[in-house]
Amino acid sequence: MGNNLEKNQNIKSSRGNWTGHLGFILAAAGSAIGLGNIWKFPYITGDYGGGAFVLVYLICVVIVGLPLMIAELMIGRHSQKNPVGAFRKLHYQKTPWQITGWLGIASGFLILSFYSVVAGWALAYIFKSLVGFSGTSQHIQGEFIALVTHPSASIWWHTVFMALTIAIVIGGVQKGIERWSKILMPALFLILLGLMLYGLFFTHGGIQALTFLFKPDFHKLSAEGMLSALGHAFFTLSLGMGAMLTYGSYMRKNESIVRDAITVSILDTVIALMAGVAIFSLVFHYGMKPGQSVGLIFKTLPVLFAQTGPLISVPFFILLTFAALTSAISLLEVVVSYFIDEKNWSRVKATLILGGAIYLTGILSAVSMWTISFRGKQQGFLDIFDFITTNYMLPIGGLLTCLFTAWVMKEANKIEELGSKGFLYKGLIFFLRYITPIAVLLVILNGLKLLPFVDYK
Ligand code: TRP
Repeated sequence: MGNNLEKNQNIKSSRGNWTGHLGFILAAAGSAIGLGNIWKFPYITGDYGGGAFVLVYLICVVIVGLPLMIAELMIGRHSQKNPVGAFRKLHYQKTPWQITGWLGIASGFLILSFYSVVAGWALAYIFKSLVGFSGTSQHIQGEFIALVTHPSASIWWHTVFMALTIAIVIGGVQKGIERWSKILMPALFLILLGLMLYGLFFTHGGIQALTFLFKPDFHKLSAEGMLSALGHAFFTLSLGMGAMLTYGSYMRKNESIVRDAITVSILDTVIALMAGVAIFSLVFHYGMKPGQSVGLIFKTLPVLFAQTGPLISVPFFILLTFAALTSAISLLEVVVSYFIDEKNWSRVKATLILGGAIYLTGILSAVSMWTISFRGKQQGFLDIFDFITTNYMLPIGGLLTCLFTAWVMKEANKIEELGSKGFLYKGLIFFLRYITPIAVLLVILNGLKLLPFVDYK
């Protein structure tokens, strides 16, 4: 056993691997838990009406998210490669399945470009809340509008955030990603716990927040709401673009993929729900409306923070920035790992060049005045990139990954990764063959309003 472990380490050491079990869990949870949980989940839940949306999202996590996370980890650990190299290695050099990897790298590139802009706002708001929010609610909300409409301000914070991300990824798997996740993730959990308890016990909005989140009202659920619930399950679990695949490739053979995938999915879901409770307690306490879109965190909450003071707001934005940072590094790592593995670039070179290119692309999203017509509306690049990647690129990438694992990957390889060919194996393969892909396909078609048996009006 000891000998085996050593051998294992020797083989992997040139690409890097996690120092141990906790390192993997925290890094993977760090990737999953991000702006998706704390910024996006609450605001889309507010927009799509609460409980029913939450329920569909939870169902998507179980029947789509969990099987897919297991599939990505299996492909990653078995191939010990980046998303493109993995399909080549497990199939053959010119396999068409490598398109899945390309799509993933493109998704990672695009997602990080706008993700960093939003993370930059979070960073800016740490400083704003140190000074404190005051004045009329219009004035406070106006500050957010000023931030996003002043290109120099949002580009500056985007620059700072990308620089941090690049610095950590240059540090590599153990000294960068793992070490920082081990510090940031526990801090994040404690801060969020404090904020949730505050919302539940020190405001009058706690009960209403729980009702809003957990009592489904299906009249409020639209086809677009369902597509968004699925898209969000992908986004929040970091699935569909090879991020978990890449993190799985640094995993050791003696760990249980199924157990780890369950742990990460539960952590991610719990954090999102905790953030929902914390935020909606405040929203209801002050009699605000839940559907505030993108501005929920940056426009509505600061108005409430003016009442609560910096003791609540400073930790909140620090939390948001930490969460974003451990996710951003996973997005960059996917892109970088391809150039390290397949092009033999050094880590420093790959990180600087690709990080730089993503940074430049992000400027499109940072300048909110640049809009183009998209789906019948004038929209900024941030919303457009978010919409396309979350609702289409990730689900399609996930669909392909799922089909590959279920139908193409060799049975012996799958058994090796899962440990045995028992009940668990059969159940998982059944899901990956029939349930998960059909669910994904239905929701994509539904989002495109293409299902013949649904009345879209
Ligand atoms: N899951 C992260 C969040 O919820 C974002 C993220 C990180 C991501 N890596 C990803 C999303 C890979 C999709 C794919 O904020």
